[in-house]
Amino acid sequence: MNRKYRKVIIAGNWKMNMLPSKVKRYVEELRGAMPKFKTCNIVLCVPFPMIPNLRKATRDSRIAVGAQNVNEHEKGAYTGEVSISMLEDLNVKYVIVGHSERRQYFGETDFTVNAKVKSLLDAGIVPIICVGESLEQREFDLTMEHISYQIKAALHGLAPEQVRKCVVAYEPIWAIGTGRTATSEQAQEVCEHIRAIIRRGYGARVARSVSILYGGSMNSQNSAELLSMPDIDGGLIGGASLDPAEFARIIEATDQE
Ligand code: 13P
Repeated sequence: MNRKYRKVIIAGNWKMNMLPSKVKRYVEELRGAMPKFKTCNIVLCVPFPMIPNLRKATRDSRIAVGAQNVNEHEKGAYTGEVSISMLEDLNVKYVIVGHSERRQYFGETDFTVNAKVKSLLDAGIVPIICVGESLEQREFDLTMEHISYQIKAALHGLAPEQVRKCVVAYEPIWAIGTGRTATSEQAQEVCEHIRAIIRRGYGARVARSVSILYGGSMNSQNSAELLSMPDIDGGLIGGASLDPAEFARIIEATDQE
C-alpha cells in the first residue's frame, strides 16, 4: 500500500450470493465489527436487486455501494440489462468491469470492457477493472503479455485524467474461489507490472495514483501480507466478504503496516 499517493480500498464482491432481506442484518454486523477509525475505503459490490436495501442500510456510514456489472449502452431495447443511469440514480459509486466470471460465462470481451469503462467514467462512477491470467497462461509464461493486453485494451482512448480515476483489480483466475492464493511476491510482481504499463502510457503521476487491488482467495489470514506489498493497494474479496466478521478483519488488516 502507499497511502501517500493513492486510496486503499477493500471491496467485497458478493457475486450471486445473499438475499435482499439479509442485507440490513449483514451491514449492522459489519458496522459493529469494523474498526471505528478510518483505515480504508470500503465498498460492497452486490447483485442489482440488493442495491436499494444496501443503500438504505449504509446511509451515514463509510461503506460505498457498488455493482458487479453494467450495460454500456445508454438505454433502449436491451431486455434484462441494467444501464449506468439506473445505477447513478441509486447512488452507486463503483462498478466491477470485466470480472473473469463475466468474461468466461457471459461473453464479456476486452472491447466491451473498454466501452463500459468509458461510459462509467463519463457518469462519474469508478470502474473496478478486473484483469488476470489463467493457469495455462501462467504455466506458458504468458502472464505479463496477457495482463498488458487486457490493461491496454481496457484503458484505450482514455485521457490521463480519466485513467487516474480508475481502479484496477488483479485477479489471477487460478486463485479465484480455489483457496489457492497467489503468493504476495507473485501478486506484487503483476501489480507492479500493471503500474509500469500505466506509467508508460499515461505518465508517472497517473500511475502512482491508480489503486491496484488483489483478488483471489484473499482472507483475514493472508490479507496483511498481501497488503504490505508496495503496489497492492487493497483487495477485491469474494467468498470471505460474505461473512461480515471476516470482512471486518480484512478491513482491519489495512491498518497493520
Ligand atoms: P474469492 O475471494 O472467492 O476467491 O473471489 C475473488 C473474486 O473473484 C473477487 O472478485
